[in-house]
Amino acid sequence: MTKPKILVTRAIFPDVVERLSGKFDVEANQDDKIMSSDELIQRLQGKDAVFTTPSERMSAEVIAAAPGLKAICNMAVGYNNIDVDAATRAGIIVTNTPDVLNETTADFAWALLMATARRVTESEHWLRAGEWKKWRFDTFMGADVHGSTLGIIGMGRIGQAVARRSTGFNMNVIYYNRSRLAPETEAYANNARHVGKEELLRTADHVVLVLPYSPQSHHTIGAAELAQMKPTATLVNIARGGIVDDAALIDALGAGRIAAAGLDVFENEPAFNPGFLSLKNVVLTPHIGSASEPTRRAMANCAADNLIAALTGGMPPNILNPDVNSRE
Ligand code: GLV
Repeated sequence: MTKPKILVTRAIFPDVVERLSGKFDVEANQDDKIMSSDELIQRLQGKDAVFTTPSERMSAEVIAAAPGLKAICNMAVGYNNIDVDAATRAGIIVTNTPDVLNETTADFAWALLMATARRVTESEHWLRAGEWKKWRFDTFMGADVHGSTLGIIGMGRIGQAVARRSTGFNMNVIYYNRSRLAPETEAYANNARHVGKEELLRTADHVVLVLPYSPQSHHTIGAAELAQMKPTATLVNIARGGIVDDAALIDALGAGRIAAAGLDVFENEPAFNPGFLSLKNVVLTPHIGSASEPTRRAMANCAADNLIAALTGGMPPNILNPDVNSRE
């Protein structure tokens, strides 16, 4: 019997490629060459499933050009790179990798929050540049984290994990989410209080964005929202580029309308707005929120588990379109 054929679009852990190779005829890309849409379409011909990362855009056009495809298994919790509706209409299963990255990504939100509030990278650049000549009472004074108000926009599993970590800092937690959490979930998330978006923006000392990207969440933070924030406030985005209007944020940071920002994600990444580079009050990281070794490995294995289930007649644990009429 011939094995099903799969494409792994980017370099991943070699042992995960090996695991998949035990079951499937795998076309891997361990040289990590970035594919254009045309190349992706060409490589999808004759494939039964594809293992994707957030860098591949599985648009309606790409999906329509892959008539044999039965599953798209994304190695990420976010799946805005995939047109799930088009995939569902075409009878293609779509999966993501939730949960395995919650704690690691929440850790990273805190790394960015602390670095942003206490000006860690800015002061390090200054020190490395040989500028540290004397003690001064006001050298790199930042904002306090302990005892402050943490505002979380998007209170899913990662948002809740961010909130739980704030207990040690004795923080007051408010959150804005489409729906209010159950009282026991709020209690576990450091007694987080559900508020409106405007109240959150006006009262939070540190705003953390943890919501999924969708056309509805596009530019959740733009010029108007930045104007509502306190001039002393900080903003952290560990969610997705496009949730913040980057040009508006660059203006606000440059004009001191908010104190600082910590960003792990950008519009059009990896080609981010160069305006950020001339600002001192922004901490920039290259979309590494989930990048601990155990978590990236768990994500790769989770995507592989989903793919194996999808092609062997099982129900993938993390199916996003369970009502799909799968292709035979
Ligand atoms: C990473 O950004 C993810 O969505 O998993």
